[in-house]
Amino acid sequence: MRHLIDPTDLSMQELNEIIDLALDIIENRDKYTEACKGKKLATLFYEPSTRTRLSFTSAMLELGGTVLGFSDAKSSSVAKGETCADTTKTISCFADIIAMRHFEEGAALVAAQNARIPVINAGDGSHSHPTQTLTDLLTIKREVGRFDNLTIGFCGDLRFGRTVHSLIKAMSRYEGVKVVLIAPEQLRLPSYMKQEVCDKNNIPYVEVSSMEEVMGDLDILYMTRVQKERFLDEDEFDRLKDSFILDPSKLKNARPEMRILHPLPRVNEITVDVDADPRAAYFRQVENGKFVRMALIMKLLEWAKDDSKTIDLIPADAVKNEYVCSNKRCISNLENVDSYFRPRTDKPGKFRCVYCESKAKL
Ligand code: NCD
Repeated sequence: MRHLIDPTDLSMQELNEIIDLALDIIENRDKYTEACKGKKLATLFYEPSTRTRLSFTSAMLELGGTVLGFSDAKSSSVAKGETCADTTKTISCFADIIAMRHFEEGAALVAAQNARIPVINAGDGSHSHPTQTLTDLLTIKREVGRFDNLTIGFCGDLRFGRTVHSLIKAMSRYEGVKVVLIAPEQLRLPSYMKQEVCDKNNIPYVEVSSMEEVMGDLDILYMTRVQKERFLDEDEFDRLKDSFILDPSKLKNARPEMRILHPLPRVNEITVDVDADPRAAYFRQVENGKFVRMALIMKLLEWAKDDSKTIDLIPADAVKNEYVCSNKRCISNLENVDSYFRPRTDKPGKFRCVYCESKAKL
């Protein structure tokens, strides 16, 4: 069985196959209208969503398949206390492929461990969002034309923004990529991302506190919303919510070929008068999300039949030990799952949780 839990689950060849298929779908829509005839996609959304859920739905319908599912955990048996594992086992009897969004970090991995059908992670807490990354990559391909030698500025909530984490992971596999992190101190990129992704892959990064000082250097400006729902302290959210607002005046020094991406929804971090700027690519990005999800569904259904495509869900170097995950929102602390830990590359003898990548503690 093959799933998509993390963007780096895909080899570079598989990733290119998905991007190429999405490009072909854009050019030849009629060729694909029956590509998933008779197949069912289950969308299991435990958290709010507009684009991700509806683009999955629209993708499957355009492929000639059908869709079932829920868009609110309260209307499913979760409200009665059912675990993610049991829900996934159940849905495996009704559908051919699952797209799951969950508020617990690591939930998609647990779903994949229990499913008999492919599971797509449509966002697990503040951890990961690999299909937004596919959307972002297709957008970069179409708007900029290359993945190598790009300087990408990530602005806003880099701590809780799962789209940022997944895109940095994906970009760390290309040559000459530089990352500029634009965030207030409290919303900086988590240390596991800096150590296990940037440092490990020799991706240079700088942390700055204003967008103006770096605007002229950027090929891509990736704006994000401050993730209100992840804050435990409402006052802290209120202090940080207006940290970075992109308006036309801040684009004065931006290059004409720079592109502005945003996974959306936007709150106020990009003023609406930026939308008319040709560099604003975020609504074109939305449409790319449908095409790339069409390609992903087709590929995962194809790979489900091919045993050689199976990859280990728990990495070979993971161990079970006396540690526990330090992250209260990790599924390993919330549901009855077997905890696994991987050795940290930055601190020998210490571990990280396999489900959410947070530090392990004794
Ligand atoms: C993002 C998400 O859900 O993480 N939205 C999306 O999927 N397009 C970003 C966000 O909610 O801010």
